[in-house]
Amino acid sequence: MNALGQAIEVWNGEQLELVRDLQTGAWFVIAIHSTQAGPARGGTRMRSYPNLDAAVIDVLALSRAMTGKFRALDFPSGGGKAVIYQPSRLSQQDRDALLVRFGAAVANLGGRFATGPDVGTSPRDMDLIARRGAPHVFCRTPENGGAGDSAPLTAHGVFHALCNLSQRIFGSQQLAGRTIAIQGVGSVGLHLATQLQKAGAKLLLADTDRSRRSLMPNATWVDAATILSRECDLLVPCALGGVLTTQTVSGLRCRGVVGGANNIFASPAVAALLHQRGILLAPDFIANAGGAVGITGIEALGWSRQQAYDEVANRVAHALNRAYVVAQQRSLDPMAAALSFAYT
Ligand code: NAI
Ligand code: PHE
Repeated sequence: MNALGQAIEVWNGEQLELVRDLQTGAWFVIAIHSTQAGPARGGTRMRSYPNLDAAVIDVLALSRAMTGKFRALDFPSGGGKAVIYQPSRLSQQDRDALLVRFGAAVANLGGRFATGPDVGTSPRDMDLIARRGAPHVFCRTPENGGAGDSAPLTAHGVFHALCNLSQRIFGSQQLAGRTIAIQGVGSVGLHLATQLQKAGAKLLLADTDRSRRSLMPNATWVDAATILSRECDLLVPCALGGVLTTQTVSGLRCRGVVGGANNIFASPAVAALLHQRGILLAPDFIANAGGAVGITGIEALGWSRQQAYDEVANRVAHALNRAYVVAQQRSLDPMAAALSFAYT
């Protein structure tokens, strides 16, 4: 069986939609992993891939992670994800029109799938998708009736995961004076770095886009190629998935890792290797669930913004505590423990 066939088998989800956009040649790939606990919800990712297979393999794993996030944080929602695979670069006008047509593909699913932003899309893009995709669109701009960007709530959850890990490793939740390395200072990474700076942490930041440096001129910036092997207390991958491999884990010089990005491990065996190295993990689909849960809470359940922040902090801490208890009881690494209750 080829890699795509294997990925579909491992995925074990409900529905995979492939819609060709005839005007541009782009593909809309929508993966509905589970609607058991409610409509499948998840962001729309727009970035380049080497080929369509790679885009499909990515969306399958990302949609599965969404089910895990909602389940782990005990929130009534199913999991899904979308990728817009766009082989050629488009003008702003053509890109906008493509997003409107993508909204029609979302609407065609009749509410089984609702989307929000992810890598390569923004609240402004959600406004465009909503022109034909409403009401199945989260995170529109406040001017258009949405709750805005999910990144601040995601970063809030990651921050609380860092506090939890710090308590376990160093005996204190306080992050003042701790050295925290962040790989990828995009939407989530920047909000997180700002919150950590306020808390008195020492930051080591890296981004392949050097223009990001001007957004935090007082932090220490390092070459993106070296961030994973820098000495630090806690490391937060906040760029793309698959960055923790057998090789990069062997080179880590930190005491704990918090998953900001989705699907940080190149394979499940790497999570076990991290554990063997004595590095404590806050699993990605728990640590980074705050955006999806918080925004869905605000827009679908009527939470106030303050309530969303409180719920995210409490639910992330509760899910992490549960993962560590299960890990202890069943002699599992924290990732295996979290997976055991997120997908049953
Ligand atoms: P973003 O696209 O705004 O930021 C990603 C940043 O990483 C960019 O600045 C990019 O230049 C940088 N980058 C890419 N490759 C890199 C590398 N090898 N080394 C260093 N920097 C690199 O995306 P966003 O929204 O901040 O998301 C980041 C990650 O968090 C993604 O994996 C996303 O799926 C995940 N996530 C995002 C959520 C959200 O609410 N935005 C929610 C949960 C997870
Ligand atoms: N990018 C978010 C995530 O990966 C997706 C999301 C945001 C879904 C907001 C719904 C609402 O978790």
